[in-house]
Amino acid sequence: MAIIKWTESLSVGVAEIDEQHQNLINLINSLHDAMLKKQSKEVLADILDKLAAYTVYHFSTEEKYMEQCNYQGLYYHKKEHERFVEKIESFIRDYQANKLGLSIELMTFLKDWLTNHIMITDKKYTAVFNENGIV
Ligand code: FEO
Repeated sequence: MAIIKWTESLSVGVAEIDEQHQNLINLINSLHDAMLKKQSKEVLADILDKLAAYTVYHFSTEEKYMEQCNYQGLYYHKKEHERFVEKIESFIRDYQANKLGLSIELMTFLKDWLTNHIMITDKKYTAVFNENGIV
């Protein structure tokens, strides 16, 4: 069962970034499914690593375009990205050290963070990106 569903309301008006957001949503849904099916720690750790790596890749794509466009909101947007990556990396460290387990609270945090970030922070760059030919 998907914890997040892609809908047009999540579109930021840039095809490449919409596709990356869909990939992130798919990874969060895979993690949620694996957790509900009580998959092994190795399976869950593998999905978590993929989610962390893809998140870093996605953030670097957005930051590259923001720099290209001299986007005014780059500094604060980048700070939000950095805080989220630190949080995921810290969770992975604690998970590997058996200090924390996967939980519905973590899944809800990932879902809420991503959807709020797309709807509020990402959507702010749409007009600037589109004006600069990033569509
Ligand atoms: Fe799509 Fe700013 O993350």
